[in-house]
Amino acid sequence: MSRLVVVSNRVALPGENHAGGLATGLRAALKRRSGMWFGWSGRVVREESGHLRKETDAGITYVTLDLSRQDYVAYYNGFANRTLWPLLHFRLDLADYARETRLGYFKVNAMLADRLAPLLRDDDIVWVHDYHLIPLAALLRQKGVGCRIGFFLHIPMPSSEILTALPDHAALFSTLYEYDLVGLQTRQDVERFISYTRLLGDGMACTDSTVHLPNGHRVQVGAFPIGIDAERISRQAADGVSKSAVRTLRASMAGRKLAIGVDRLDYSKGLPERFESFSRYLAHYPDKAGRMTLLQIAPVSRGEVPEYKLLRSQLEQIAGHVNGLHAEPNWTPIRYVNRSFSHSTLTGFYRLASVGVVTPLRDGMNLVAKEYVASQDPSSPGVLILSLFAGAATELQEAMLVNPYDLDGVADALSLAANMPLPERRERWEASMALIRRHDIHYWCNSFLDSLHPVRPERPPIELPAMRPDLPACRPQ
Ligand code: UDP
Ligand code: G6P
Repeated sequence: MSRLVVVSNRVALPGENHAGGLATGLRAALKRRSGMWFGWSGRVVREESGHLRKETDAGITYVTLDLSRQDYVAYYNGFANRTLWPLLHFRLDLADYARETRLGYFKVNAMLADRLAPLLRDDDIVWVHDYHLIPLAALLRQKGVGCRIGFFLHIPMPSSEILTALPDHAALFSTLYEYDLVGLQTRQDVERFISYTRLLGDGMACTDSTVHLPNGHRVQVGAFPIGIDAERISRQAADGVSKSAVRTLRASMAGRKLAIGVDRLDYSKGLPERFESFSRYLAHYPDKAGRMTLLQIAPVSRGEVPEYKLLRSQLEQIAGHVNGLHAEPNWTPIRYVNRSFSHSTLTGFYRLASVGVVTPLRDGMNLVAKEYVASQDPSSPGVLILSLFAGAATELQEAMLVNPYDLDGVADALSLAANMPLPERRERWEASMALIRRHDIHYWCNSFLDSLHPVRPERPPIELPAMRPDLPACRPQ
């Protein structure tokens, strides 16, 4: 059986608890197959990037490397999180573009390829994750790596109108054709990618799941909606209610209902809109004001990036404003908490909550939505309010689907969810839970790897648009 090599920017090292869908999802998936996990250590050092560290735990080998401050700023804070993240989340207004950070992004990818290539065997299966590492396969191929390489994008794939706004976009996105399989979260993401590829032309022919390149090479493209470890989370949630943090939360509710939101502090999550919607709920349903509290857990994320700093101060203002407007001496409407919690505590919190509020403006999938459902007590489940713009909405059709920009609509949904009769809650929950169980994290992992066929037994060299990161656009795009 071939060895699995997972490559991602963030590696969930043994014993670490990361707030991120990628990290939590993969840890569960990799446990089932011994292999290697390769990526950034999460450390920023004074020296040059690239010193390798190796450790083994539970049959998995972790190989990580540190980044220099300069590389971290250009690659992670810069091109990955100030250019690609907003662009791929449909936020052209927030996308910042600089040749210098693009150069840093390619430099770090080249360094990762350089360190990884000697560790690879011919029959390995390499699985690369997310927007930080788009050009990695192309850089590995240049070093003669011929094994199967797949790519999974955890975040949305926007339309070609948005992708083409990135200067010299073809030089970056065409490196995806060096993978054997490109996995996206939803069918809509696949359709948008295929339509971008068609627009690029370059002699490529596309069906709705394959891109044929002029040299005979082909790339499979498919939708693989990521799942969760449903059984484990349900068990954790049932056990979690006896944890002291969960008992303390329950006692503090003093009989009031709890609505919960759990998100990294990120502008894609629609937090200002959520706070405003909760405020409207309190204003529009004054008879119910004081009977439900919103607990928003929002660990700080990418805290050095200016757009994230700004969001943090905006949220502090909005939370203060809403609380000032509606609070009573013995009740605060929004409890806003900027720290992260372990999965086992979170699942206990989810189970206490009558309403799960997941209202991102745009999200690849959103694992919190699935975790909330999996944590419910089957005899009296809570209700999930879910944004139409989260990938999870394509699957969880029985959630209360809302448009997060429609603040009055979300306010109404909060009221309906908090007062939904038990038979309807159970009916909705059972349908969602059946899907979450069927398409769990193991299903996701297996279906991706089963689709990653070797499609390039004799690889002819691929003619890619120039990959020089510093190259200005040199042909009509
Ligand atoms: N998470 C966590 N502790 C926290 C907040 C979040 O473990 O304090 C986890 C959460 O349970 C989920 C993941 O972080 O598994 C977030 O994934 P999601 O897909 O919802 O959003 P992302 O952060 O990947 O954009
Ligand atoms: C999202 C991204 C992941 C990322 C995670 C946490 O889930 O898709 O690639 O790891 O957010 O963000 P961070 O920047 O802390 O790794």
